[in-house]
Amino acid sequence: MDEVNGKETIKIGNDVFVPYITEDRIQKRIKEIADQLNSDYLGRIPVFIGVLNGSFLFLSDLIKNINLECEIDFFKLSSYGDEKISSGKVTLLKELNCDVNGRDLIIVEDIVDSGLSIKFIEQLIETHTPASMRVVSLLVKPKSLKYDVKIDYIGFNIPSEFVIGYGLDYAQKYRNLRSIYILDEGESF
Ligand code: IMP
Ligand code: MG
Repeated sequence: MDEVNGKETIKIGNDVFVPYITEDRIQKRIKEIADQLNSDYLGRIPVFIGVLNGSFLFLSDLIKNINLECEIDFFKLSSYGDEKISSGKVTLLKELNCDVNGRDLIIVEDIVDSGLSIKFIEQLIETHTPASMRVVSLLVKPKSLKYDVKIDYIGFNIPSEFVIGYGLDYAQKYRNLRSIYILDEGESF
């Protein structure tokens, strides 16, 4: 694979991705969200639940800024396959390992697009009795939302374009980019 980190544009087939949210802006916003969580959950021991694979970088940077006692667990979902457009189906590839009953849950997502994945998680959690559940997502595409979901902490609202980097993939690649790149419709050929 060509080198990707630090590149001005990334070409994938006929698609051109351009820099959109820099590493610095991502890290600054994560600190702000973590500060909010540190104050909102003061005196509690929340369980951060990352949604794999996309949230792994966000969760790790977020958690490094959390100064509460906390636990971490993961769901693994699959919905996109190798395409830029959702298959519209979500499957559960990995269940939680912890007992969520009576716990304060913080679901950590990389991006909320249609809201289907969050809806699916809400339904899974509904079969248990946590003390509370909130959702934090680094990115939200408000105009793409098709399900009635509440995202309690949002990093950035973005347009309904495909983005890659910082955990977000295109056909499983480009998750290792330190910043976020967006599909440049104008430059597509
Ligand atoms: P939703 O279920 O439609 O809300 O989509 C959520 C999931 O789709 C996210 O957790 C991502 O894994 C994936 N996804 C949605 N939009 C993008 C994107 O622009 N780039 C990469 N992955 C995306
Ligand atoms: Mg995801």
